[in-house]
Amino acid sequence: ATIADAEIHRGAGGETHQLAGGEVPVLTTQQGIPVADDQNTLRVGPRGPALLEDFHFREKMFHFDHERIPERVVHARGVGAHGFFEPYESLAELTHADLFQRKGERTPVFLRFSTVAGNKGSPDLARDVRGFAVKFYTQEGNWDLVGNNIPVFFIQDAIKFPDLIHAAKQEPDRGFPQAQTAHDNFWDFISLSPEAMHMALWIMSDRTIPRSLRFMEGFGVHTFRLVNAEGRASFVKFHWKPKLGLQSVVWNEAVKLNGADPDFHRRDLWDAIQSGDFPEWELGLQVFDEDFAEKFPFDVLDATKIIPEELVPVRIVGRMVLDRMVDNFFAETEQVAFCTQNIVPGIDFTNDPLLQGRNFSYLDTQLKRLGGPNFTHIPINAPKVPVRNFQQDGHMAMRNPKGRVNYEPNSWGGAAGGPRESRERGFRTHPAQESGAKLRIRPELFADHYSQARQFYVSQTPVERTHIKDAFVFELSKVETLSIRARMVSHLRNVDEALAWGVAEGLGLGDMPPAAEPARPVVADLPP
Ligand code: HEM
Repeated sequence: ATIADAEIHRGAGGETHQLAGGEVPVLTTQQGIPVADDQNTLRVGPRGPALLEDFHFREKMFHFDHERIPERVVHARGVGAHGFFEPYESLAELTHADLFQRKGERTPVFLRFSTVAGNKGSPDLARDVRGFAVKFYTQEGNWDLVGNNIPVFFIQDAIKFPDLIHAAKQEPDRGFPQAQTAHDNFWDFISLSPEAMHMALWIMSDRTIPRSLRFMEGFGVHTFRLVNAEGRASFVKFHWKPKLGLQSVVWNEAVKLNGADPDFHRRDLWDAIQSGDFPEWELGLQVFDEDFAEKFPFDVLDATKIIPEELVPVRIVGRMVLDRMVDNFFAETEQVAFCTQNIVPGIDFTNDPLLQGRNFSYLDTQLKRLGGPNFTHIPINAPKVPVRNFQQDGHMAMRNPKGRVNYEPNSWGGAAGGPRESRERGFRTHPAQESGAKLRIRPELFADHYSQARQFYVSQTPVERTHIKDAFVFELSKVETLSIRARMVSHLRNVDEALAWGVAEGLGLGDMPPAAEPARPVVADLPP
């Protein structure tokens, strides 16, 4: 809308004043005090010094000075939207999680997509993993499924995560590259971490340059547990399947798009949802039990492995629709806090050593990022069910316990005694049997780092294989240290000889390095 000249008043120095009146509300300070002049500071005479007394100026400037909060230590670049999830059927036989009990009942969700390595202002089409984090506001509290668009991860143990991310982000002396995996530190770390080979194949595939966030899959990555009302537990992998199918750009397009429109994905999501073209994903489950898990030649607690869909088909159980953009980017997308330990009755963790470390990391980083222990009071993070407990105070407490009682057990009966625990409704950890010596050790079954990398590569079409080869050549050609290039090729020889030779040729590698020594024999075929 254009501004009618009639609304514009000129001040003594020619400055513009637009005045309240009619339906136009009066501007106020944070204290609600009506403001008469928002163009000029309070001075002594028209050309005199500014006065400390000017509370409106000081409040406005102080607030501006404090606008920035730390960006996320990873996944800083992202975009979010609201929507809902609805199950196609009751899953009561598998889980007593409230959101899966009743066919067609909608649970509100908030989803944030992200890239991992780039800073908050980095371009959308960097070659990178995409975050796919869903917050379900269920009737029994918030469940966060904090996933990615790739079903496996680089590392097997959370203790390596700081090293992985340091190596992936800009190098500490030069401050670049800001959103590229094409640099020495990244490939040095990857080539020294055979466990990363499966993921390395996925990130060199077209999945890391999606056409749009609407054309991506999502994965919970870890093996989780579902627990039903009788206490029977199953293992589960979570999948999101886009209704629009999978689409990517090619590298050439990605490079141009990053220059022409660094907000390409963000804008695409905004335009689609604003025009009523609501993106949709189906939720799929791979469910299996402990006995079945023991038949695999790998460990289901190892986040560098998938469960082959030929062995455990994905069962589609519901759909998620994104139908509303945020009202305010900062309040919602920036302040949303996902955490793998936000879990509801009927769902549980496993001993995946990556998942267990994540459960510590998210809350810890959010305490700093969001300024203290009360960030669950922010509307985007607050559950949509009553929160009742005796936690109190801290910076910016918005919902302290009411009345006299702030502890339990207490002698004040009934409502005056406050909330009480419930054996029937409360979250109960699945009583998995655990025993063993305290050790720092990887299980032996975690040691086959090439078989699934090979299975992924051979499952690709010829065009996709060429893209993977070209991506390796492009990325490694930016690595200045030649021994790192050779070390990567030596790993690729265990994945696929033709791929390794193609990359070596593309890099102009003089001598073919010998294949890396695998810790366990490479299994070429899927188990029967
Ligand atoms: C964000 C840690 C592995 C998906 C984050 C954040 C941290 C973190 C500290 C920033 C959170 C915030 O400031 O709110 C870790 C650690 C990992 C790990 C320690 C391994 C040990 C993974 C894996 C996945 C994943 C395996 C996918 C399955 C995400 C996503 C976000 C995120 C999607 C962005 C959430 C958002 O949109 O706000 N991670 N992460 N992370 N992580 Fe991880």
